[in-house]
Amino acid sequence: MSTYTDSNKKITAQSLVSMKKQGEKISMLTAYDYTTAKILDEVGIDSILVGDSASNIMAGYATTIPMTLEQMILYAQSVVRGVKHALVICDMPFGSYTNPIDGVKNAVRIIQESQCDALKLEGGEEIIETVKAIIKVGIPVMGHLGLTPQYINRFGDYRIRAKEKEEARKLVIDAHLLEEAGCFGIVLEKIPATLAAQVSSEISIPTIGIGGGADCDGQVLVIDDMLGKNKGFHPKFLRLYADLHTVISDAVSNYISDVKQSKFPNKEEQY
Ligand code: KIV
Repeated sequence: MSTYTDSNKKITAQSLVSMKKQGEKISMLTAYDYTTAKILDEVGIDSILVGDSASNIMAGYATTIPMTLEQMILYAQSVVRGVKHALVICDMPFGSYTNPIDGVKNAVRIIQESQCDALKLEGGEEIIETVKAIIKVGIPVMGHLGLTPQYINRFGDYRIRAKEKEEARKLVIDAHLLEEAGCFGIVLEKIPATLAAQVSSEISIPTIGIGGGADCDGQVLVIDDMLGKNKGFHPKFLRLYADLHTVISDAVSNYISDVKQSKFPNKEEQY
């Protein structure tokens, strides 16, 4: 349990930076709804990411590209209502931060309408002026490097990134640029563990890994994936902490059978 959660304090973007300084690992999971967010917060998660992975997990799209600002705001509002302590970070969706003016306008909208604490943007040098402009108006920003799913049509696939020297070199430069721009942390997705370790040791803001190895300052997973709801999805970096697919299937099968056989409801379950 985090010392920050223990003291019943709201965790802030600055808390995450302090946790890195003190050598305390940061726990982060995604959530998209009120009841899940409430459970994560009650058990002491440090941070909840309202990821645009909602596109895959909640809406069933193949990529995160279709997510809209309105949809992200709705998911973030639901999560925020369930949270007392954890830092709530919301992804800015694809196309909502292509330049500093649109970026600030849309960032302000997400923060005002959802009351989440911070935003996450994908990319490095190419979005740096937008990142600076959003931070300038007082919104904490987390970066996201490596496999950045909003760039899937440029990458062509979801394979590990920055294995080649040139891409690794750019990633290190981008991490420093994001730190200098004022980001409070950076997600490192699906890159070699040695590269994530190098970045984590070179910058003073926390790195949050998903497929980035053990030397990141914290870890994030997509909640449905780690709970085993997404049957058959098991990339190397994912640890399954539950088998909700089986739990839900068994429960619903039992319910169907009880209804069909008039075993539900019984006398105690009716008025
Ligand atoms: O959208 C998301 O869930 C994310 C995590 C995979 C880091 O960006």
